[in-house]
Amino acid sequence: MSTLADTPLIRTTALTRHDPVRNTTLLHPSTFILSGGQRVAITGPSGSGKSVFLRALALLDPVDDGVIQWRGRAIARGGIPAYRRRVAYIAQRPAMLDGSVEDNLRYPFSLKVYRDARFDRERVGELARRAGRDTDFLDKRASELSGGEAQIAALIRVLQVDPDVLLLDEPTASLDPAAALEIEALVSAWFDDGHGERASIWVSHDPAQAKRVGERQLVMTAGTLS
Ligand SMILES: Nc1ncnc2c1ncn2[C@@H]1O[C@H](COP(=O)(O)OP(=O)(O)OP(=O)(O)O)[C@@H](O)[C@H]1O
Ligand SMILES: [Mg+2]
Repeated sequence: MSTLADTPLIRTTALTRHDPVRNTTLLHPSTFILSGGQRVAITGPSGSGKSVFLRALALLDPVDDGVIQWRGRAIARGGIPAYRRRVAYIAQRPAMLDGSVEDNLRYPFSLKVYRDARFDRERVGELARRAGRDTDFLDKRASELSGGEAQIAALIRVLQVDPDVLLLDEPTASLDPAAALEIEALVSAWFDDGHGERASIWVSHDPAQAKRVGERQLVMTAGTLS
């Protein structure tokens, strides 16, 4: 008998995406299972579909076919905000709102789906510190952040609300090696705090990093994950 503990967090069946303009397949039908306690690394050439895949999993881009199940159930349209709270996508080039970093970190709490949660300045300050940033990081203008700092802010924005799954799209691409290691440590701490219930998918172009951040190594080649 299967129990809830055996149910994967995410299961995709025949997930497919085409580009009608160029008449190409961006994502070939794929079955993919992500269970609690798994850390997946995806590598693969530029343009192979890694971001397309993560964005499909995050329900950010439409797919043409296939099903995504969350904890064994299809996701109803009305359940998408709740799903995105559980399954957080961190973009390759994160978008920031005008205002300070703190304004950006406070933003999720203005959304209905986070009405039960409260912004905790001490907690985000601690996350920033662990990501190697000074306390004045929260007061910086978002428009003045470097690419790497924007990635750190986007990660903190997500970590503060305790997601179950992180979809990390080259989250350290704009960071120096030392800062990249700090981000890896921050994500590891989040993962360990889940006691086997959390999972991550980390897209990287760096084979050494992929080895560090994933026990399960996958490769994306021309829209096929293997
Ligand atoms: N919205 C879209 N409409 C049409 N084609 C798209 C769309 N988004 C991405 N593509 C195409 O899908 C292919 C895969 O893109 P994707 O961004 O997933 O690559 P990637 O593997 O993440 O590459 P990189 O390592 O450079 O980030 C590319 O050919 C890209 O042009
Ligand atoms: Mg990409």
